Amino acid sequence: MITLKINGAQRQFDGDPEMPLLWYLRDIAGLTGSKFGCGMGLCGACTVHQDGVAIRSCVTPLRGIAGKEITTIEGLSNGDHPLQKAWAAFNVPQCGYCQVGQIMQAASLLKKKPQPTDQDIDEAMAGNICRCGTYQRIRAAIKSAAQEKA
Ligand code: FES
Ligand code: FES
Repeated sequence: MITLKINGAQRQFDGDPEMPLLWYLRDIAGLTGSKFGCGMGLCGACTVHQDGVAIRSCVTPLRGIAGKEITTIEGLSNGDHPLQKAWAAFNVPQCGYCQVGQIMQAASLLKKKPQPTDQDIDEAMAGNICRCGTYQRIRAAIKSAAQEKA
């Protein structure tokens, strides 16, 4: 039996401890904001937070997160996180598929570095792929959100 803590709620799981967290979130917990992209830790679509730090849930087995605090986009805020407001203001998404992962990655960055440099942003976001090429708007939105928090 594994005790999970997701978005502040405790859950018990007695299935396969090797199940990737993303599978649990989407298929069992019904938290479908996190997306399946590559399933190999290469695209960032599945990004969630473990104790406030961005992780790839597609390659994180449930046994590895026992006792850790997991936050998904559903638990990040009520939709009023500075990044979410900036994402709307800058009309960032195109198809939208990668955007939850982008926001969760950026939220982890701002938690660690509230005033990131361009290099900080580039380094933090380098592993989050957007097939639609929304990178310029993502960067602008992160800077705007950082200013709002300043
Ligand atoms: S689906 Fe997890 S990194 Fe691509
Ligand atoms: S908005 Fe389409 S993949 Fe990023």
